[in-house]
Amino acid sequence: MTSQRFRNPVFVALDTPDLDKALELGRSLKDYVGGLKIGLEFITAHGPEGVRAVVAIGLPVFADVKFHDIPNTVAAASRELARLGATIFNIHVSGGEVMMREAVAGARAVDPRVMVVGVTVLTSIDNDILGAVGQRGPAAEQVVRLARLAKHAGLDGVVCSAQEIAAIRSACGPDFLLVTPGIRPAGAALADQRRVMTPAEAQRAGSDIMVIGRPITGAADPVAAARAIAAELGMTAPA
Ligand code: C5P
Repeated sequence: MTSQRFRNPVFVALDTPDLDKALELGRSLKDYVGGLKIGLEFITAHGPEGVRAVVAIGLPVFADVKFHDIPNTVAAASRELARLGATIFNIHVSGGEVMMREAVAGARAVDPRVMVVGVTVLTSIDNDILGAVGQRGPAAEQVVRLARLAKHAGLDGVVCSAQEIAAIRSACGPDFLLVTPGIRPAGAALADQRRVMTPAEAQRAGSDIMVIGRPITGAADPVAAARAIAAELGMTAPA
């Protein structure tokens, strides 16, 4: 299956445990972003009802769940996530090929349009941590090794830093979906992100989905911030 591409590649990260705030933000940004991303904090706090409420806003939803378990369990969880209406979700590539194949099969049995992307090496993991858990480094090489495995196992793409796009693109080809966090418009606060790119730089580098949180959600005017990013990406009309 060729991965769907999004006209507006910005998925806003609704990183708040406050359900009303998340829903209000999502609704207000609907015309200016391409999708909504929810993560473990939100899903743990609000459960399936919370996920359904975000899906009901009407934008594609990326569930950042990072599944990693035995294949049968991941397949079952993937099925349930697809039933909740997630458009994209992620799993750890280090769970292995069978786990990845079963995640895709489980989700697609419910909805053939669901996209599954892999987590290679978390950006919080450096070469020392990688060695301590017995994975072969250096991290930059492990990222590409796992991206190739993800592609071989039938995943739609991987989550990666914008700096890793070139290496993964050349290893996995033009149709592999590259999802990049760590995006900061020029002048925005870095907060805890370190190696960042602006939206325009990430677009030029070939990012398919940009996960952007605080530069939008922490702005005095989130709608204006999302509009400015859309304009930077060459989108003049609402998404
Ligand atoms: O606020 P900010 O733009 O930094 O948010 C980025 C989002 O992407 C957060 O939800 C964060 O958990 C997620 N993320 C990340 N880096 C990764 C993977 C996910 O920042 N390597």
